[in-house]
Amino acid sequence: MIYVCGIIACSSQRHQRVAPILKAGLSRLEYRGYDSVGIATLDASLIIKKDAGKLDEVDKKLVLDSLPGKIGIAHTRWATHGPPTSINAHPHVDCKEGVAVVHNGIIENYIEIKTFLISKGHAFKSDTDTEVIAHLMEHHLNEGENSLEAFRKTISSLKGTYAIALLTASDPQRIYFAKKSSPLVIGVGEGALFAASDIPAFLDQTKKVVVLRDGELGYFSSSELYIEKDGVQVKPRITTVNWTPEMAQKGGFPHFMLKEIYEQPLALENTLKIREESLEKVARLLLSSEKIVFTACGTSFHASLWGYHEFLRKLDKFILPVISSEYSHYLHLIDENTTVIAVSQSGETMDVLKFVAGVKKRDAKIVAITNVVGSSLAREASETLYMQAGPEIGVAATKTFTGQVLMMNLLSIVTQYFEGLITHQEYQKVMRSLAELPSIISRVIRTVEPRARRIANEIKRSKSAFYLARGHNIPVAMEGALKLKEIAYIHAEAYPAGESKHGPIALVEPDFPVIFVAPRDEDERRILSNVQEMKARGGKIILVTEPNSILIEHAHHSFVLPYPRSIYYRPIQNIIPLQLLSYFTATARGLDPDKPRNLAKTVTVD
Ligand code: G6P
Repeated sequence: MIYVCGIIACSSQRHQRVAPILKAGLSRLEYRGYDSVGIATLDASLIIKKDAGKLDEVDKKLVLDSLPGKIGIAHTRWATHGPPTSINAHPHVDCKEGVAVVHNGIIENYIEIKTFLISKGHAFKSDTDTEVIAHLMEHHLNEGENSLEAFRKTISSLKGTYAIALLTASDPQRIYFAKKSSPLVIGVGEGALFAASDIPAFLDQTKKVVVLRDGELGYFSSSELYIEKDGVQVKPRITTVNWTPEMAQKGGFPHFMLKEIYEQPLALENTLKIREESLEKVARLLLSSEKIVFTACGTSFHASLWGYHEFLRKLDKFILPVISSEYSHYLHLIDENTTVIAVSQSGETMDVLKFVAGVKKRDAKIVAITNVVGSSLAREASETLYMQAGPEIGVAATKTFTGQVLMMNLLSIVTQYFEGLITHQEYQKVMRSLAELPSIISRVIRTVEPRARRIANEIKRSKSAFYLARGHNIPVAMEGALKLKEIAYIHAEAYPAGESKHGPIALVEPDFPVIFVAPRDEDERRILSNVQEMKARGGKIILVTEPNSILIEHAHHSFVLPYPRSIYYRPIQNIIPLQLLSYFTATARGLDPDKPRNLAKTVTVD
């Protein structure tokens, strides 16, 4: 079994019971998985409650808050193989129920370990790889090791990826932890310490964090933190994050997704704060490279496609976009003269990390564009551009998409300036004009929302939809289609508008939604014939365009966005109505856009 999961652990003298803190943390980690939930606390002995289902459902049945104890661990799970069942839910325990463990990652050699432990008389209850950790710890404790040594030995036997938190009755004040490839951060509060898959899980308790590095392990109590790597003690690197707990919660919106759509102006403002030196360094790297390769998955890939179109139009170089999971087919093109721009909001997507590991062996330079400070991707890259969009909880990426696109635009502008393609004056003018982007986007969101809501009601029963565009607007159409698919469960496909007559048009019948991303650029006239083709077959034409477009009179509905001061506004403002259309279509269909079925926010398996 392999998982994408969230873990949280806490040891506190400040609280009567830690269970409510663990439960609150789990609710903020549910984007990492939500098919089963479990908590273990240690009072006089270990107490465990776990079951299959979303946190609210499991909590209703098991009243998770009621667990006693000032120390505990918890887990929310997302299975990719095998059924989510109560037995397979974490925490997992050893034979005597003296050790409990939660884990995110994959123990690749669990079958060998399990076979060994079974030969020593251990009895297993679940089909998971994780359970071996609890039994292995028990085995070393049985051999007379103290808890720290038993934990060290346990971890040293594991192959694969893991973020682990472990409780043992043999050492009731401490939580043991270890990290390799899966994310794990420690929170350092007054009289209470935490470990979690990410910072928002404990942000209401403390803003002081230690981002663990691969190979680090240790323990914490309510007042002490010990970290080591390769047997040598490591001084905790405490940093203070500036996110408020409110930023990580819904802030009055019915869903995280809507909140995050509305947060885009603020997120863009933060992205714009990036230091020019950071962009300059990357721009010089790009210009000194013979080849530029963009790589990413999902929404981040669409942002990369925008970057690809943008750089292709401006630079005379070999430029290629590659979906990260396809990397093995492109490796031979990548060498020491290549810069790879790896884009991942989480910085933890396994497909992206594998791509990066593969191309590093070929001496390519790596630039990361990510939202998460200290993420695995950031650590692998020689240069990192942080979007600073704040935590994104909704599974469907919104503000991180616009942040990524803005970052691509900033990078493109600086690169053009260094290449002598624009003058200093032009450079300053376009940079200055971008400062107005956040307030324009804020206005766009407010003005298009009512129309998006109305159109959503009209299309909510559609079985399928097309998103058509030309040239560099195609990535935005692709992102619009992905949003509708992933949260409203309506089949949606994006096509180059000219290609749609070569097959897709066969599907068009009365009321079939055809959404055109058609700003007033050089393709406007050519799009007109595509609009007419679709309309002649009864398609419901929905337009994203700008004032006085020749297309408006042919459309059933038009989102008319402001004529942009700079072409760099376009992808960012054009995606807004499409994000809102998907959101309202999902809610009109009675679906929860924050928890789309079969999806996880961060996919740490390949
Ligand atoms: C998952 C999410 C997508 C996301 C993709 C890449 O599949 O469901 O929304 O776009 O991962 O995530 P990343 O964190 O690498 O941008």
